[in-house]
Amino acid sequence: MKIKDYLQKAKKGNWAVGQFNFSTLEQLKAIIQAVEKLNSPVILGTSEGESRFVGLKQAVTLVDSYRQDKNLALFLNLDHGKSFDYIEKAIDAGYDGVHFDGSGFDFEENIRTSKKIVEYAHKKGVLVEGEINPILGTSRVLEKIPEASQKDLTDPKQAFRFIRETKVDSLAVNIGSFHGIETTGKSPVIDFNRLKEIKGQTSDKFLVLHGGSGIADKDIKEVIAQGIVKINVNTELRIAYTNALKQVLKNKPLETTPYKLMPEVVSIVSKIVEAKIKLFGSDNKT
Ligand code: G3H
Ligand code: ZN
Repeated sequence: MKIKDYLQKAKKGNWAVGQFNFSTLEQLKAIIQAVEKLNSPVILGTSEGESRFVGLKQAVTLVDSYRQDKNLALFLNLDHGKSFDYIEKAIDAGYDGVHFDGSGFDFEENIRTSKKIVEYAHKKGVLVEGEINPILGTSRVLEKIPEASQKDLTDPKQAFRFIRETKVDSLAVNIGSFHGIETTGKSPVIDFNRLKEIKGQTSDKFLVLHGGSGIADKDIKEVIAQGIVKINVNTELRIAYTNALKQVLKNKPLETTPYKLMPEVVSIVSKIVEAKIKLFGSDNKT
């Protein structure tokens, strides 16, 4: 089955596929461990920065080798690709999906570039996710929640036109979530009405929630019930990885063998992925 088949299955069954980002082998191992344990399809995400660190070809090869070796439903997605050129490189390297974040462009330019990307990607069977309004914040600990006003949220009519003209497969929607976690742990306020309106205009497409870290579990369940089929999570995994590594180094000051230091880190990150998979309802769906 392809990535599209799983998103279709999720849409019918009212659950969501998680996208978990990675930029180190240990993060990837943590995600794979959770997938193996829970028989869940997952999308492995790499942002432009993450993919530059890992290498586009190397990310493809790593994911392919796990997929084949262990017969897992793993898919690789370029997250927040910002230009046609970089997205073309990811497609040529063998990514299964690409997210073109054209939210920094003017709307008409975003439509033109998204359309060009869709034409290129679809020839190679690659799924395309588009974006209109930027999802605020960055995937890290933030001192202050970015304040999204009504005008920052995805406009349902614009979404309809964007999808009709570009033919993207999925749409990253801004319904109040943001990238990162606020220091106090305050959850974002999700605009469920807006989601309902967007869904009404885009029912044949896949809706994606970005900024999946730090959202209350009950809100995650509600967005899935209302039609979100893919949820992106990064910050929670980054924080868990970094904190676990700091702790392990502190506990074992004389240990210098990476493969003896890292299993504990992998296992802590993996537990978080497991919890997300269960929350999204994607366990036992392969
Ligand atoms: O594109 C990646 C996600 O939107 C990650 O968001 O870092 O808040 O989990 P997050
Ligand atoms: Zn995002």
